[in-house]
Amino acid sequence: MTGLITGSRVRLRPAAAPDAARFEEILSHPEVARWWADAEEPVAAQVSYLLDPDEGTTTYAIEYDDVGNTAVIGIELAFEEADPQYRHAGIDIAVHPDFQGHGLGSDAIRTLAEHLFTVRGHHRLVIDPAAGNEAAIRLYSSLGFRPVGTMRSYERGPDGSWHDGLLMDLLVDDLVPAAALAGS
Ligand SMILES: CC(C)(COP(=O)(O)OP(=O)(O)OC[C@H]1O[C@@H](n2cnc3c(N)ncnc32)[C@H](O)[C@@H]1OP(=O)(O)O)[C@@H](O)C(=O)NCCC(=O)NCCS
Repeated sequence: MTGLITGSRVRLRPAAAPDAARFEEILSHPEVARWWADAEEPVAAQVSYLLDPDEGTTTYAIEYDDVGNTAVIGIELAFEEADPQYRHAGIDIAVHPDFQGHGLGSDAIRTLAEHLFTVRGHHRLVIDPAAGNEAAIRLYSSLGFRPVGTMRSYERGPDGSWHDGLLMDLLVDDLVPAAALAGS
């Protein structure tokens, strides 16, 4: 699952070693760390994993042409279940706060979802924001993801405590068309 994926406004480029510093900068920002950080895993270790993830997982640098310059504005991950009986894929994302609120995260998620459906042949996607991550849940809902249920004490946060996650899923016919999204 390699190659450039072009969205309406962003491009998804498979991540590579030179992305390390920018990924560290994005994940270290308090507005991102709040939802991504783990008390027991330093950011550098998170970045090492992103650049060399488990089989079935692909990390993308989200690129955006910002006043003539190509900027890496975020990180997006796709993981694919290998067992054919349970075939599905999952997505995770972080957008640098300087670029949030402009419809770019929405385009990045929608673009990867469409790729996973049409190119990779999945019929079902999942995403699992922290139950308290209202902005992310609102965004995923606007793209067609539906809440499945609360996963109690699912994820360890930056303070070391376990917090709930919301499992959301999206079937192929649920994905909202690009033309229906703000800023498209
Ligand atoms: C969640 C996250 C990925 C969203 O990315 P984003 O780029 O801010 O998302 P968007 O800009 O597409 O959408 C955010 C809001 O801007 C609005 N928006 C969309 N297009 C817009 C545009 N062209 N102009 C202005 N606002 C726009 C959206 O409608 C949405 O509004 P809402 O908050 O009322 O739902 C980002 O906030 C983030 O990385 N957060 C920190 C890490 C995190 O929580 N990751 C998710 C883990 S599951």
